[in-house]
Amino acid sequence: MLVRRCAVLFLEPREDLDVDWAALFAGQGAIGASLEWVALAPHLGREVVLDATALAALGGMSLTLWRERAEYEARFGAELVDSLLASGLLVSDAPEFAALRERDEVLRSQHWRPLSATAHMFSRWADMRVDKGMQFPSFDELVEHYGSPPAPTINRRDDGQAIALPLPPQAPLDATLFQRYTGRNFDPLAVLPLATASRLLQRAFGAQGQHEMAPDAFVLKKLSPSAGGLHPTEAYVLAQRVEGLAPGLYHYQPVQHSLEPLTLMSTAQTEELALRMVADQDWFVPAPLLVILVTRVERNFWKYRNHAKAYRALLLDAGHLSQTFYLLASEAGMPAFVTAAINEVDIEQALGLDPLKDMVVAVCGCGPASGAQDTVEMRYEP
Ligand SMILES: Cc1cc2nc3c(=O)[nH]c(=O)nc-3n(C[C@H](O)[C@H](O)[C@H](O)COP(=O)(O)O)c2cc1C
Repeated sequence: MLVRRCAVLFLEPREDLDVDWAALFAGQGAIGASLEWVALAPHLGREVVLDATALAALGGMSLTLWRERAEYEARFGAELVDSLLASGLLVSDAPEFAALRERDEVLRSQHWRPLSATAHMFSRWADMRVDKGMQFPSFDELVEHYGSPPAPTINRRDDGQAIALPLPPQAPLDATLFQRYTGRNFDPLAVLPLATASRLLQRAFGAQGQHEMAPDAFVLKKLSPSAGGLHPTEAYVLAQRVEGLAPGLYHYQPVQHSLEPLTLMSTAQTEELALRMVADQDWFVPAPLLVILVTRVERNFWKYRNHAKAYRALLLDAGHLSQTFYLLASEAGMPAFVTAAINEVDIEQALGLDPLKDMVVAVCGCGPASGAQDTVEMRYEP
């Protein structure tokens, strides 16, 4: 049997603090600290606790070259090799370990930067809720706990040398820019006209052209910028109340400008899914149209292989799309939202996505406002 170490492995000496009751009653220091080695291997997507022997052994195993299992057994002991194989930190060509080896191969095939893959895989939420650890305190509570925040901005010259700029005159984009705000009070009964949804999707996520940059190397022209012109972000739609569309999940095809039905649902099911997607932020649930931004990492990493800036570029790409989406919603007289406080794992399951290939980045949505102010919003006030 041949074995090698998994492709990406980071090790964290994790410290857990706890109250040491015995020490406390003995009149000594009350805080105990325990340290353990935690292995973060993105192809597993879960943490593995290691002892120092396993740690030393992993440091002596190649992640590239396949070696005979017997060789590592002779060096590190059969029991340790068995446990590393079972955990997936060591991969093998044996059929009984095929599933773990395939996860490692998927990771290798995508050309992730190792730190980026680790940050991505270990910052996803599953079944997180607003009331279950997601930090959502009010500004009053924040000030009470942390004191005043740092000033909203800074001056770098306070010697009178700053150059005053002329005030900008009104211009056509202003109407849309000043109307934009994050909506948290959507009309729960409003139905989005199909024409409105169609314009929003086409202008925010659709292709306005297609160019062959080299033989069989196509790029799409869109109305937002994208690193390398690669546009790796796909838009998935959760339609709740869109005229003429059955409620459910769709993939927006940006070249054909069409919606590909994935799962049709009842409205109760779309509401339940919307709530789960946005980690119980119930103020977003009544939006008739939600859009999930999902990056196909291999599209960007095809060019930016194992690249220090690639992961940052993916997040920036999604941010640009969300702003364009906001502005189109504003133009149509509607508030929009974007949130990164999302249950990526639940979304991956609903859409049938592999997080090593498809990165769920954010959820946007929009719809007519209800007119109520049950949840705080920040509109521009002249
Ligand atoms: C990356 C990002 C994440 C956000 N996440 C949330 C969120 O989880 N919940 C929420 O209610 N608003 C969220 N927002 C919206 C911001 O709170 C909002 O943009 C900010 O308060 C300014 O208000 P405005 O958009 O109306 O100008 C997010 C915005 C951005 C850009």
